[in-house]
Amino acid sequence: MRESQVLARIDKEYKLFSLPEILAQVIKAVEDKNSSIGLIADVVSKDVALTSKILRISNSSFYGRMNKVSSVMDAVGVLGTRSVKSIALSVSVYDLCRRLDNRLDIKDFWRHSLEVAILSELVARKTEVRLAEEAFVCGLLHDIGILILDSTFSKDYEKVWHLTCKGNDLIKTEESILSTNHVKVGAFLAEKWNLPERFANAIRDHHRTFELGEPKTDEILSQIVCLASRISNYQMDGLSYIRRQDFENKKALLHNLGLENDDIAEIRSEAVTRLIETAQFLEMDVGSPLDLVQKANDLLFQLMCQIEALYSSSEEGGTRIPKGRLDAIATDVMHTVVATFSHYFNNACATILGRSQLLEMSMDRGDLKDADNHVLTRSIEVIQKGVDSITNVLNVMKSVESFDTVQYHESAKIIDLKEQLDELTADKLEPIQHM
Ligand SMILES: [Fe+2]
Ligand SMILES: [Fe+2]
Repeated sequence: MRESQVLARIDKEYKLFSLPEILAQVIKAVEDKNSSIGLIADVVSKDVALTSKILRISNSSFYGRMNKVSSVMDAVGVLGTRSVKSIALSVSVYDLCRRLDNRLDIKDFWRHSLEVAILSELVARKTEVRLAEEAFVCGLLHDIGILILDSTFSKDYEKVWHLTCKGNDLIKTEESILSTNHVKVGAFLAEKWNLPERFANAIRDHHRTFELGEPKTDEILSQIVCLASRISNYQMDGLSYIRRQDFENKKALLHNLGLENDDIAEIRSEAVTRLIETAQFLEMDVGSPLDLVQKANDLLFQLMCQIEALYSSSEEGGTRIPKGRLDAIATDVMHTVVATFSHYFNNACATILGRSQLLEMSMDRGDLKDADNHVLTRSIEVIQKGVDSITNVLNVMKSVESFDTVQYHESAKIIDLKEQLDELTADKLEPIQHM
C-alpha cells in the first residue's frame, strides 16, 4: 500500500473522524474579535456536557478562586476565551475517539496524551506563555495518528505494535508496513479539521531531531510539544525504549527553549497532580490512582532493565557508557517515581496533619482532656514530626539533580539510591523523638 492510498482511505472514512458542529461554533465565536464573553458563554451553554466541564475546571484549584463560579459567563471570564477553545477541542476529540474501534489500550493512550498536553502547557508557561493553551491541545493531539491508523488498519497496526513492543522504532516500523506514519496522519487530520497550520506542524514534528540553536518563531510550539513527549512519565507500552538520540535531542530542546534540568523536574512533579485533576474534570478515563502508581512502577522496572542492559553491553564491549548519560537516566527514573508518589503522600500527610490539628483545637477548647502523662499532646507532636520527616524526604528527593556517583551493586546492578539519600538527608532530617 502507498502512502497516498492510506491517506485516501482515511479521507474516505472522514465522517467517522469529523468533529461536532458545536466545536466549530465555539472556535468561530472565540476567534471573532467582536465576540463578547456573553456571546461565547451563550454558544458554550448550548452543549450541556461542555458547560459542566467548563464550570468544573473554572472551580478547580489550578485557578485558585475563593468564590465558587456558578455561571458559564463567569467561567469564561475566569478561564479566558483561549482556554475555553482548548477545552472544547479536547473534549470533542476525546469524545470522537471513544467512538472509534481500537485494539490498543485506550487508557494507556489517553494517559500519555493528557500528560503530554499538561507537560506542553507547563513548558510553554516557562518559555512562551502566550502558547500555553495551544500547547495543551497540540500535546493532547500529538499521537492522534496512532489511534486513527489503529482503527482504520487494525490488522496491519497490530503488527506494527507487536514489533514496536519488541524494541523496534515506531516510525520506521509504521513506514515499513503502512508506507506512512502516525505523525503524518495526525498532521493530515489536523489540516482536515481546519486547525491552524502550526498545530499540524507541532504534531508532524514531535519525533523530529532538532538542531541546537535559537528556534525560529514558528518552531517554538513544535519544540515545546517535542520536549513534552520526550519527558513524559507515562509512555505508552512499548514506547519507553531509551535511545541515544533521545538524550541528544532532549539536551538540544532544553537549550533551545532556555530551560534547565531543574525546570523539568519541577514541571514533571506538577504534571502528576494536574494529570489526575484534569482527567477528572474532562471526564477522561486514564485509569485509577492505583493504576497510575502501578504504571509508574512498571515503567521504572522497564527502565531499570534497560539500564542493566546498557551496563552489561558496555562491559562486554569494553567501552564505558558516558557517565552523564547514566546520570541522566538515573535522575529521570527517580523523578518519575518521586513525582507519582508525592501526590499521594502529600494528600495523606495533609489528612493526617488536619486530623492532628483538630485534636489540638479540641484540647485547646477543653472538649478533649489530656491525662496527666500528656500522652495525647506528645503523640500529636510525634505525628507532626513524622509528617514533617516524610515531607522532608520528598523535598530532598525532588531536589536531587544528578548523582555524582551512580553506584551499582556488583551482583544486582541496582542504583543505590538509599546511600545517596542518607547522605543528602543527614543534615536535613530531624530525628523523630520516640516516647
Ligand atoms: Fe508519537
Ligand atoms: Fe507520544
